[in-house]
Amino acid sequence: MARSCPFGACDGSGILVDEAARTASFCRCRGQVVATARARGLSAVIPRKYRGVSFDRPPITTIRDGIVARVRAYVRDLDARLDAGEGLWLYGPVGTGKTSLAMLVSSAALDAGRSVAIYSLPRLLAEIRTTFDDDSPGTYTDLLDRLASVDLLHIDDVGAEKTSAWVLEQLYALINTRYEDERAVIITTNLERDDLAEQINERTVSRLEEMCEVLPVTGADLRRQTFGLAEPEPADVSPARWDVA
Ligand SMILES: Nc1ncnc2c1ncn2[C@@H]1O[C@H](COP(=O)(O)OP(=O)(O)OP(=O)(O)O)[C@@H](O)[C@H]1O
Ligand SMILES: [Mg+2]
Repeated sequence: MARSCPFGACDGSGILVDEAARTASFCRCRGQVVATARARGLSAVIPRKYRGVSFDRPPITTIRDGIVARVRAYVRDLDARLDAGEGLWLYGPVGTGKTSLAMLVSSAALDAGRSVAIYSLPRLLAEIRTTFDDDSPGTYTDLLDRLASVDLLHIDDVGAEKTSAWVLEQLYALINTRYEDERAVIITTNLERDDLAEQINERTVSRLEEMCEVLPVTGADLRRQTFGLAEPEPADVSPARWDVA
């Protein structure tokens, strides 16, 4: 499908042509055109499970109002928040709706014509690792470059598995580049801040903390309720070192 200009100014190419004056200039959306082109080859697809996710339907309607309101506010100000490099950090126990909330944001960003890369952390790290294979079609620097330049980098399940120090260095390099360039990141994790820092390195977590609004997604495991199992006690995640209303 041909890309359209989110400002309704150009034909989607990022170039404004003035036929009468026979001049051409860059459109406001030019940066997005470049980012979208560079993002090609990255995963920018909402997984099937989350395609119908909406503020009006479960599981989002079952999540604590205050948290949903913050995500709704983010989506409302999406362009400004992305342009400012502000992201979201959603943490909490298993099955509370973190990935669903994050997919809502990524989906809104894609709809707004922004470039998005969506990965679980294990998949992202595996992708980085494969660039070192002899038969890899792309180079490491090229992949990192593309991951660093998308408008929104969505990383799901951060801290889900232990990995090598080398791979964590690559993750740090990626997050640090985005931090320096003020580009937004959205992450979901089951871990509390200090446990996450132990898992993926303090320097990476420190930067993410500054780049993201931190939102605890508490409650019971919605997956267990889906199949009518005995309702578990709601797990509690204290805001720990974060001050969340
Ligand atoms: N589009 C959808 N429609 C209805 N329910 C959905 C949809 N997407 C996800 N769910 C349900 O929402 C619940 C929470 O799922 P989600 O994957 O967002 O949780 P999570 O907090 O990311 O879990 P985890 O910590 O295990 O990654 C699950 O019961 C899931 O089946
Ligand atoms: Mg999840």
